[in-house]
Amino acid sequence: MTSIIQFADIHFGVEDKDAMAALAAMVKLLKPDVTVICGDITQNGKKDEFYAARDWIRTLPGPKVITPGNHDTPMFGLLQRVFDPFGRYNRIIAPLTEPHYTDQYVSIMPLNTSRGWQAKTDWSLGVVDMAELSGVTRDLKAVSSSTVKMIAVHHPLIYPSSSPLQKETENGADALKHLSEENIDAVLSGHVHAPFMLERQPDETEIMSIGSGTLSVRRRDKPASFNHLSIDGETLSITEIFWNDGRYQNSEPWIKKISELKSQRSD
Ligand SMILES: [Fe+2]
Repeated sequence: MTSIIQFADIHFGVEDKDAMAALAAMVKLLKPDVTVICGDITQNGKKDEFYAARDWIRTLPGPKVITPGNHDTPMFGLLQRVFDPFGRYNRIIAPLTEPHYTDQYVSIMPLNTSRGWQAKTDWSLGVVDMAELSGVTRDLKAVSSSTVKMIAVHHPLIYPSSSPLQKETENGADALKHLSEENIDAVLSGHVHAPFMLERQPDETEIMSIGSGTLSVRRRDKPASFNHLSIDGETLSITEIFWNDGRYQNSEPWIKKISELKSQRSD
């Protein structure tokens, strides 16, 4: 069995200090084979926030797959945002991530959907570079088809109707279609600060999407939370672990047979 912890939106600087303090015991209990961090690691992309995040990430056991979020660029440094948006992230956090994670049950690759600035008014929106996505899917296609293949991003490619935030990710729908056609199985994301799970659509236009909540105090009517996924040759189980009344509690796990979550299309 592979144990995966999925974090997102910790926003060091405004992290939920109580939930974070209690996290080490949960991590010990869940024994992750890999930890995925789906962006917005910091609040304002400041050096001290990145250093605090780095020190915490170093305490996590095993390999990490990390991708930045829109908050991981210098919020108040316009020149840096334009000319070197991920300079700090690349220097302080990127050395801690694996380029990908693969074992006998799962393969996970990160893809950056965040931008320092964009030729639009809202710079926080997600963008999928389709050429970059093709490179990721090409690498995932090389992995055994029996593994559950996932990409880790910050922005949901399509926002679920349950999301408290309703935006659009540039090329998101095309990206989901491409992922489906390439027999990728799931997208791990963050950004909306509320957990969600969407199943593969029977018409093959959308693959499974698994969103993690936030461990910051920037909440949208949901408790602080993260996800735990466990995968073996038979099933994928997803559990939301949320912070309530000063302790972590588990949601009812969502369990799916691997044979049912994968596309019926042959490789
Ligand atoms: Fe966020």
